[in-house]
Amino acid sequence: MVKILTFSLLWILPLSAQNDFISAKKCARCHQEIYDEWATSMHAQATSLKDPLFNGMYQWAIQETGGELESKCIVCHSPMSTVFQKISMEEVYNQEGVTCQFCHGTAHIRGFQSAKNMEVNLDTIYSYHPESDNSPHPVANREFFNNSEICLPCHAVMKNPKDVEVCATGSEWQIFNQKTGKICQDCHMPKLNGSFSHRFTGTHQSSLLTNSVEMDLAFDENTREVKITLTNAGAGHAIPTGTPLRMVMLKLVAYDSVGNLLWQNWEINPIQEDKQALFMKIMGDAEGNAPVPPWRATQTMFERRLMPGDPYSISYQLTSEAIYDVEASLWYRFAPTFILAKLKIEEPHFIRPRLMVQKGMKIVH
Ligand code: HEC
Ligand code: HEC
Ligand code: HEC
Ligand code: HEC
Ligand code: HEC
Repeated sequence: MVKILTFSLLWILPLSAQNDFISAKKCARCHQEIYDEWATSMHAQATSLKDPLFNGMYQWAIQETGGELESKCIVCHSPMSTVFQKISMEEVYNQEGVTCQFCHGTAHIRGFQSAKNMEVNLDTIYSYHPESDNSPHPVANREFFNNSEICLPCHAVMKNPKDVEVCATGSEWQIFNQKTGKICQDCHMPKLNGSFSHRFTGTHQSSLLTNSVEMDLAFDENTREVKITLTNAGAGHAIPTGTPLRMVMLKLVAYDSVGNLLWQNWEINPIQEDKQALFMKIMGDAEGNAPVPPWRATQTMFERRLMPGDPYSISYQLTSEAIYDVEASLWYRFAPTFILAKLKIEEPHFIRPRLMVQKGMKIVH
């Protein structure tokens, strides 16, 4: 009883005093575990203060458009800016990125094109069938927490100012959902000990990335072709999905009988050396220059990505009789190296490619 009373006081005092922002740190007083999980997620790090790749692209966008995109990019990365109508990063609510109260304060969702379509009410906490008896703060039920709708306003489709589709995780997922019934939370908020994980694991923590693609190798002795088949077996959308910066690259390496490197399908950059081994979306401008940053794009110049359950095969002919071993590996990059260099991003986290899956095979002679 005493515990509940102090809880209520803590909550009610600031709430009744002002219809204001409640920091995630305050939710942590009673939901510590969920807070700790969320704090490691990219939602907590989505802002220009914490994510160097977002910040780099954001500053570039502002500079190139004479400030036009300054208020637009932060709509989903610091969504509280839409509630308080202020974009300054001095504001604590903007510093917290996709914070607790933004999701759990959403009373209505009007559409899926922007976080602006999420209507936030600062004095109630919404979730899926909350237990109102135990809670020291006002709670209310919203069905959309139990399906992908709570994610889609930021993740569905984004078009640039020239009306070109930049990313479309939501529409990719819709096709998958019709076949499987699975929602974003099934994979990105799995239930652990009865509670939904708030780590929102994606590609920044690599556990989901590893083994999301199945790889098969086969060798045809007559044609001397190695056939590699890749299947997106783990994601509910394309691989890669989201921002068009992402790259997935297949590498095939051949060795002689004592392990010397004899051949590889590309050495430095598959964009120039072997496009059939490349999975990404490359945006271009009206003159056909590519890649260009998303805000400058008027067209998609190149697109190959792995759709759920739709295998993709590539064959390479082994011309040398001296090949005894081949090894295929699939790699993920957050962004092409020339972009990281341009933005002066040096953190190993962003620079190092990540291994997704790897397989070797002996070549019979
Ligand atoms: C409609 C909501 C929305 C808007 C508006 C938006 N973004 Fe994003 N952004 C996202 C989402 C969702 C992701 C995560 C997708 C992913 O991981 O690929 C993301 C990811 C990114 C990333 C990758 C960050 C990383 O650490 O890997 C960059 C860079 C980025 N956005 C830049 C921008 C820029 C620049 C603008 C303005 C031109 C912008 N975004 C506007 C929703 C948005
Ligand atoms: C991106 C949106 C989003 C953010 C950000 C978010 N949550 Fe959640 N939260 C959900 C969803 C979806 C569920 C699962 C469905 C439900 O229970 O409503 C959930 C469930 C919960 C629950 C129910 C208990 C359980 O089973 O896990 C609590 C409590 C909760 N969140 C607290 C928080 C706190 C505290 C924060 C910030 C540290 C936070 N949430 C951030 C979307 C979000
Ligand atoms: C003073 C303590 C306290 C604070 C501060 C607090 N909560 Fe709660 N909250 C509770 C308790 C107790 C419950 C009842 C259910 C439980 O035990 O998880 C609850 C229930 C919830 C639920 C419904 C979970 C369910 O399934 O019943 C959500 C969602 C939630 N809180 C989110 C938040 C968010 C977001 C914040 C910060 C904006 C916050 N809470 C701040 C104590 C608190
Ligand atoms: C208010 C906008 C918003 C909402 C709502 C939202 N997200 Fe996000 N999400 C983002 C942004 C912005 C990023 C990119 C952060 C970055 O990389 O800088 C992101 C990134 C992610 C990532 C990638 C993390 C990584 O490590 O690569 C996953 C997974 C994700 N969100 C899942 C979800 C799920 C599941 C929901 C619904 C329960 C959801 N998001 C709701 C804005 C949102
Ligand atoms: C069947 C499981 C599954 C479902 C359902 C699913 N995802 Fe994913 N998601 C994954 C896997 C696996 C990855 C890592 C591979 C990749 O990048 O696609 C991933 C990656 C992501 C990323 C990070 C992409 C990047 O490169 O930065 C985002 C953002 C994301 N998912 C959002 C969503 C959203 C939003 C939904 C619902 C509309 C959703 N996912 C549904 C499994 C799933």
